[in-house]
Amino acid sequence: FSVALRCHGKRCRPFAHSTLSKAIPRPTLIAPSPLVKIQKRYAAQAGASNGTWRPVSVLDEWVAKEARPISLRQLMVFGRSLTESRLISSANYVRTELPVRIAHRIRDMQQLPYVVVTNPHIEEVYQLYYKAFDTFRKFKEIKTLEDNEKFCEVISQNLKGHLTVIPKLAMGILECGRLMDPKELDHFMNVILRSRISRRVIAEQHLSLTETFNSPYFSPGATLSESDFIGEVFIKCFAKDVISRCAKAVTQLARSTNGPQVQVPEVKIDGHLNASFPYILSHLEYIVGELLRNSVQAVIDRHQQQPDHASSPPPPIEVTICEAQEHVIIRISDRGGGIPRDELPYLWSFSKGPQSQKRLENLGQVPRMAATMQELHVTDELGRADLKAPTYLGSLSTLTSRPPNLRLGMGLPLSRVYAEYWAGSLNLHSLEGYGVDAFLQISRLGNKNEQLTTRASMDA
Ligand code: COI
Repeated sequence: FSVALRCHGKRCRPFAHSTLSKAIPRPTLIAPSPLVKIQKRYAAQAGASNGTWRPVSVLDEWVAKEARPISLRQLMVFGRSLTESRLISSANYVRTELPVRIAHRIRDMQQLPYVVVTNPHIEEVYQLYYKAFDTFRKFKEIKTLEDNEKFCEVISQNLKGHLTVIPKLAMGILECGRLMDPKELDHFMNVILRSRISRRVIAEQHLSLTETFNSPYFSPGATLSESDFIGEVFIKCFAKDVISRCAKAVTQLARSTNGPQVQVPEVKIDGHLNASFPYILSHLEYIVGELLRNSVQAVIDRHQQQPDHASSPPPPIEVTICEAQEHVIIRISDRGGGIPRDELPYLWSFSKGPQSQKRLENLGQVPRMAATMQELHVTDELGRADLKAPTYLGSLSTLTSRPPNLRLGMGLPLSRVYAEYWAGSLNLHSLEGYGVDAFLQISRLGNKNEQLTTRASMDA
């Protein structure tokens, strides 16, 4: 049983269940308590006569299944000539894949120390996940377009219902920062967020394909042109266009948070200006937006400290695009003074940092938060949904209900989760007293599978 209460940090010691259940009132659970399930499982394993593992619960059966990762290229090839039977296969892939991916994460949560999994925020996420797992695993095979319509409704409800997950997880992790090894907590957070992105990608891709199929302009089997989206995948995502758009949005944001008189640094783009690759636009907008936002604010802050700041403009932010055979690299260089020494060890951490208490307070003000931002269905002036509109500004102000200057401390670690999800990377080099160089590497061919497990850089 002590395995279930695996102790990762110095402060956490395994207790006997009876001691804990007296000390902590058992919450009312829709799903069986994680602890009870783990106990049952280990008891059953201990009792297995041949010593081999056997499933003892529905969850075990689903945990035993492997996720089937997909690549951007597969998403494109599949959606390129859409037919009714392809749409139905897509629905059944999502129907069977979601419960597998959720089951793995429920199991991760069950294996957290008891004090962590009973944190009210983590517990709430656990319940949401268990409910979604049960809903999707029970959904009958989709055979007709009507079945698919019902399935899409269930997906949409879940996508909306899970908007509270990120702030909840982030608050839970910060509150548990001293109860478990921060490295283990960060690892848990990286895996759970990456998995969440992956589930939202496959769910949103299916909704998008269904929407395309139902459009009056759609003719089954028609092949889409190069400049199009296939579902959520932007076939030719030009790095320069995305950077320019994010720079514009970040400039507006800087004016609204620092006052209209503020001198915002120019964002200069050079290098391979024609570089393009298939990508999910909102993922790239999130990463580039966060990096530019950090750079712009650092440069503004530093410039305002200079005695002659009123008479000279702040130094520009230089963005270089480099297109190699397999990758596109985007380097963002600023002269904002570099990252303070005391913040450096916690740059990628969700659970620790000098501003933890402030982050916790700020997160309390964010009831819902978009992670993939495909859910940010921006509407145009006629009220029509414009799914492909640039979402960066919308993501900061509308659906997240987040005031633009509220620092959550999640921008960098979450950006890295996005970058690594599509087999890319994100690194920063800080030049103390001078500035920061951020390096974002993107896989150019779209042929890499989603990365559902974390890489060494995250665990380091
Ligand atoms: C999530 O947003 O966490 C999800 O798992 C969404 C999925 C149930 C559609």
